[in-house]
Amino acid sequence: MGTAVLAEALLQNEDLQVFVVSRAGVAPEWLSAEPVYQTTRLDFVGGDLLAPKTVRDALQAVTPEYNVVGCISCVGAITPWSQTNMVRTCGDANINAYTISRELGAAKFAVITRDRSNMHDWWYPFPYLIPGYYEGKRKIEEFVAHDAQNAGNAICLRAGFVVGTRRTLPGLPTSVKIAVPLDGLYKAVNRLCPTIGVGELAGAAVRFVLSERKAEMALVPNDAIPDYFEQP
Ligand SMILES: NC(=O)c1ccc[n+]([C@@H]2O[C@H](COP(=O)([O-])OP(=O)(O)OC[C@H]3O[C@@H](n4cnc5c(N)ncnc54)[C@H](OP(=O)(O)O)[C@@H]3O)[C@@H](O)[C@H]2O)c1
Repeated sequence: MGTAVLAEALLQNEDLQVFVVSRAGVAPEWLSAEPVYQTTRLDFVGGDLLAPKTVRDALQAVTPEYNVVGCISCVGAITPWSQTNMVRTCGDANINAYTISRELGAAKFAVITRDRSNMHDWWYPFPYLIPGYYEGKRKIEEFVAHDAQNAGNAICLRAGFVVGTRRTLPGLPTSVKIAVPLDGLYKAVNRLCPTIGVGELAGAAVRFVLSERKAEMALVPNDAIPDYFEQP
């Protein structure tokens, strides 16, 4: 998801300088094979959102000469497998991302949360398997939705299962080379649960962040994502 957002940001506005905060602080190796990422407009810096000072320091070092237009967080994890870790990574790490983006003067903020439409279906296993994930997503959604002072400038995109090619596997470092196309699998999933294309999701996040228009609501449902913030 994160690398799809980078591609969209670089393509949607050619004047943007894009900074990526990741724990590794360097581009994953496979990016070197993709022309869109071969630009001096893309910089990687190292930081861990569960140690927010590392992110604050890294961004304060590189952004002072820029007008920071926005921040998009694609942070979330179910591994290492612990409910506490899921709450912290999906919730607290994203609250730190939002707080730091506000400190940097970013006008807009978008974070990827989770579609809830199957939550109460008896056959849907995830609320029982990964309650910490949903609890973390609820935490960042409440934090954003209750920030009345900044209403309209921050959104949570409530994504269904994301369809595209996976380049990372949860729990494995990004140096492990994989490319798993999920399109076929998710055609089947789509009969039961909402899905969203990775490009559609990235496009919506970037359009919102680059627009001067405010959002009508903080929580954006999955089915509103494909056309979200398209020109009227
Ligand atoms: N995939 C789906 O079907 C789906 C559906 C709905 C919502 N979402 C949400 O969409 C977002 C992106 O999903 P994805 O599938 O692209 O997940 P992913 O490939 O697992 O990416 C998650 C990212 O979070 C980063 N991260 C984790 N902990 C961090 C920390 N403490 N500090 C900084 N970065 C940290 C990871 O960076 P490292 O490289 O350092 O590990 C990784 O780049 C997540 O919030 C996910 O919950 C995904």
